[in-house]
Amino acid sequence: MNFLIVILPLIFFIAFKIYHTIKVPEGLKNVPTLSFFKFLYAFLVQDGPDKRWERLREILDKEGIVKVWFNGKWTLIVSDFGFVKDIIMKTDVYPKASLEEIFPGSLLAQYYGTNMVFSNGDVWKRHRRIANPSFRNLPAHVFVESAMKLLNIMEKVDNEPIEVNDFMHRLTLDVLGKVSFGFDFNNLEEPKNIYVNAYNEVIEELSKPLYFIFTFLEYLFPRPEAFKKVAKLNSLYDELVEKKSKLMKTGEIEKKINDNTADLLERMIYACNDPENQTLTSEELRYDMAIFMLAGHDTTANSLSTILYLLAIHKDVQKKVRDEIFRVLGDDLTPNMEQQKELKYMNMVINENLRLYPPIASLPRRINSQDIKFRNHVIPARTPILAFIYGVHHSSKNWEDPEKFIPERFQNEKHDNHAWLSFGGGSRLCIGINFSLMEQRITLCALLRKYEVSLPADSIHKDNLQIASDTSGTMGPLPVHLIFKRRTD
Ligand code: HEM
Repeated sequence: MNFLIVILPLIFFIAFKIYHTIKVPEGLKNVPTLSFFKFLYAFLVQDGPDKRWERLREILDKEGIVKVWFNGKWTLIVSDFGFVKDIIMKTDVYPKASLEEIFPGSLLAQYYGTNMVFSNGDVWKRHRRIANPSFRNLPAHVFVESAMKLLNIMEKVDNEPIEVNDFMHRLTLDVLGKVSFGFDFNNLEEPKNIYVNAYNEVIEELSKPLYFIFTFLEYLFPRPEAFKKVAKLNSLYDELVEKKSKLMKTGEIEKKINDNTADLLERMIYACNDPENQTLTSEELRYDMAIFMLAGHDTTANSLSTILYLLAIHKDVQKKVRDEIFRVLGDDLTPNMEQQKELKYMNMVINENLRLYPPIASLPRRINSQDIKFRNHVIPARTPILAFIYGVHHSSKNWEDPEKFIPERFQNEKHDNHAWLSFGGGSRLCIGINFSLMEQRITLCALLRKYEVSLPADSIHKDNLQIASDTSGTMGPLPVHLIFKRRTD
């Protein structure tokens, strides 16, 4: 009897909690539902955003939103362009969810902490104000040196199919390490060295899909080894922050800034010393370094892989881009800033590639601060919302023949008027946009001058580019082997 007195209320309490969690809020009742099991299946079979769109296209084109029960909450996936634009522009109505909010107690939250990408309001402003000037002074020579190193390494595999996604990841890791904090991962020359391994192991641990869906796994099956790996990488960043902060005191950083040889971290430490700015702590600087690596690595690597694939299957476009490179650059191997602007056709191809294959297919989660009216729905405050950029880019409501590769569609168009959101927008526009575009242009110039790129006849991508899962947050292809044949004319 006593047992029942204790156990029955407990059962009622748990049942009430479950009911409360899975009950659909009134305002979302008429929003179409993607079943949790379909969603889980897609997660487990590692579907990419393209498959997600295929499955949801009809309903999303009609309704603009769907709901899915995910992470213990009813979450909205939004592809309606107007709604997505609001989500991006109205940062006070749609603040970003912090990593601790989305994945409480997780390795992810510990590693990335409070950084520029996942913060809001005054904290975000403080990060952005310190970092903005640093991104205006990018050391172009580092991009050029890395592209040259890439060419030297590729020379050894001339005429053999090369897995470009791996090469592009190696390139972009090296560039990011050098530009962000003056550290050479040397991933191009020595892909298995201890620093590369340490970095890759941490990223692998952070990207485990099951820990994304079932956040409580972090408590049920803690990962002490993974936490240790993270701590080790963090101590590398901490050492760099400490070393460079000392350089600040000796006047070394100011000298480097004047010579234009300072890296992003040095520039940020310098900006922290400006009495006009509110400073960032050493820990916050470390979190920003970690998030720059995340935000700038896979994204640019995947863009370069997909664009090389597109050029391989569209030989006419490849020729046009190459002709333009020769016309604009003359004998120069890589483009300076002025020449980069003149590469108009290449820039259109880059935009069209980013439209077809946006590396950030879904923006990081927002949580609305107030009730929102959308069509006949009232979305209650504190609903998790995912803006589905891939859907916006592939909807025939926004683009004519959205599945076709047509660089010319960017001929006379300004991005702002179009449903082109590869780098987000508004005040939260990607801070690394010029970093990435510069890296892409320099790399393409170096590669296309020297090589004719083709897709092998037996490629798994011969009918369509096969897209990998984006559980890690970025969208990219499955391994892409391409033939790089040295040009003779
Ligand atoms: C093709 C390459 C890239 C793509 C497609 C891309 C895409 C994006 C997008 C869509 C956002 C907005 C996210 C949101 O609104 O929630 C963003 C923000 C951001 N990106 Fe990038 N990015 C790229 C390269 C880079 C690089 C190279 C870096 C740094 C080295 C970088 C650093 C950041 C940071 C720090 C933010 C947060 C900005 C803020 O909230 O103020 N990104 N990026």
